[in-house]
Amino acid sequence: MRTMDWGLQNRLSRFIKPSTGHSVMLACDHGYFMGPTHKLEEPRRTIESLIGYSDALAVTRGVLRTSVDPNWDTPIILRVSGGTSILREDLSDEGITTSMQDALRLNVSAVALSVFVGASHEKETLLNLARLVDEGEKLGMPVMAITAVGKELEKRDIGCHVVKTYYCEDFSKVVQGCPVPLVVAGGPKLKTEADVFELAYNALREGAVGVDMGRNIWQNESPVAMIKAIRAIVHEDANAREALDSYNEYRRERANVAKPVQL
Ligand code: 5RP
Repeated sequence: MRTMDWGLQNRLSRFIKPSTGHSVMLACDHGYFMGPTHKLEEPRRTIESLIGYSDALAVTRGVLRTSVDPNWDTPIILRVSGGTSILREDLSDEGITTSMQDALRLNVSAVALSVFVGASHEKETLLNLARLVDEGEKLGMPVMAITAVGKELEKRDIGCHVVKTYYCEDFSKVVQGCPVPLVVAGGPKLKTEADVFELAYNALREGAVGVDMGRNIWQNESPVAMIKAIRAIVHEDANAREALDSYNEYRRERANVAKPVQL
């Protein structure tokens, strides 16, 4: 068991809530490689309606400065890797785009970078991770590694403080082999709300401490209903069925509020 410095633990506990040990992170960092993304074209509008239900907000430096009110107290997870885009074949060709000094100046609670195990730039991304972890340990800044390595993560300590990965077969083995808290990403929008709740519920049941989810929340036609239902799974032990009930209930309530009053 690694011991962490007080500052690092304190930063982590801002967004992995000590009351439940879980976290709902809202991911809005897609633009750095996807460009204008459906329903995230104006990040401020997307973020504004959901920030109150988020334990952390994952963004890039540009979105933070332009679209996030510095008076909000939601912890920020700052994406610090990038340099490539979906217009290029190889998404693994990333470097570090934002310094640790900037992360400190922006008073963020963690930094996040992608690592691409098995891809052509595996080595560079792992070296980026190693460098950030060294700096983070010195400065008390948690590092979240975003990885799609799936089962390959088993039994490999990649040195970071939080891992974000995608749901996969035998997910519980991934969690068991991961020595630090692990959160699950949502991925591209799934067919139904029930599919999203199943994913989140299964990930939590199999040991994830929460979600770092974007498109399946803000691309939904009722993003607030969606994030509230996800919160119920993450913080209140709701199952997928109960989450769907919560989603429908919220939509019904809103529909009633919107109905014109009959005289
Ligand atoms: C983009 C990311 C996203 O933050 C991550 O994929 C989570 O968002 P989504 O739930 O939309 O997949 O890392 O690079």
